[in-house]
Amino acid sequence: MNILIIGGGNLGCAIAKGLKEAEPNYNITVTRRNPQKITYLKSLGIQISDSNTAFIGAANYVMLAVKPHQVVKVLEEIRPFIEHQLLISLVTGFSLQELKLHLGPQVYIARAMPNTAISQRESMTCISTANLSEQQKQAILTLFNKLGQSVFIEEHLMDAATVLGACGLAFALRYIRASMQGGIQIGFDSQTALKIAAQTVRGAAALILNQDSHPESEIDKVTTPQGCTIAGLNEMEHQGFSSALIKGILSSFHAIDGIQHKK
Ligand SMILES: NC(=O)c1ccc[n+]([C@@H]2O[C@H](COP(=O)([O-])OP(=O)(O)OC[C@H]3O[C@@H](n4cnc5c(N)ncnc54)[C@H](OP(=O)(O)O)[C@@H]3O)[C@@H](O)[C@H]2O)c1
Repeated sequence: MNILIIGGGNLGCAIAKGLKEAEPNYNITVTRRNPQKITYLKSLGIQISDSNTAFIGAANYVMLAVKPHQVVKVLEEIRPFIEHQLLISLVTGFSLQELKLHLGPQVYIARAMPNTAISQRESMTCISTANLSEQQKQAILTLFNKLGQSVFIEEHLMDAATVLGACGLAFALRYIRASMQGGIQIGFDSQTALKIAAQTVRGAAALILNQDSHPESEIDKVTTPQGCTIAGLNEMEHQGFSSALIKGILSSFHAIDGIQHKK
């Protein structure tokens, strides 16, 4: 398997590292204009280059991980070299229709929205395609399942996926930080508080993902009548906990809308 990742920034490098760890035999090349900034990848067995086209002929998958304002230039550069390869764009807000416009209608394309936990192989990745066979779709799913969990979604939900999955990572991290701050105030040193907060979130996620359970039924199991959990939960709700989160998700969603309109 040959994978070319164009755009060796935060996301491109995270994917390269995660994939190499999952599949040491994959040939992975990461490109950027300043490859000297990612020479550490070489020690992981990942090739780096400043050429977007030198390795493209042998690639099975070409992943695009440049910023939205950089994508058109890259598409024009690689267009003559894209034939059999499956192009997966990770670029936020750049539609399948726009990709086809720049690459031609015959090119195999997909969009994927992972989050940076992909470096830990714990991403939630949402994928949309237009013209792929079931076999190609299955192959993409298998690829991203090596890096966490993945689902196919309708393309019109890509912005929503960006907010819930990619921005959502930051929301979850802020929850962990706030828990840590509370933990320090009630007696823990910062490192212990952080470990307790982070592992507790991991445990909560495992209860849902491994058991196909619902959050509220798990909450019911830990809220003793007149106990301390329900006292804390109700106070958080009085202070607008769920409402703040939902409003934050909506604000992020509207912010994407604003960014699209400025394009
Ligand atoms: N970070 C996330 O959580 C996340 C999640 C989902 C999707 N995304 C999307 O993924 C994309 C990348 O995000 P990011 O956070 O990784 O951005 P980033 O860190 O800025 O990475 C972009 C990289 O592209 C390289 N680049 C720019 N022009 C290039 C060219 N012509 N040829 C080859 N490489 C080029 C840049 O390096 P040089 O300047 O050295 O060329 C840079 O390292 C964005 O479209 C973003 O919306 C990000």
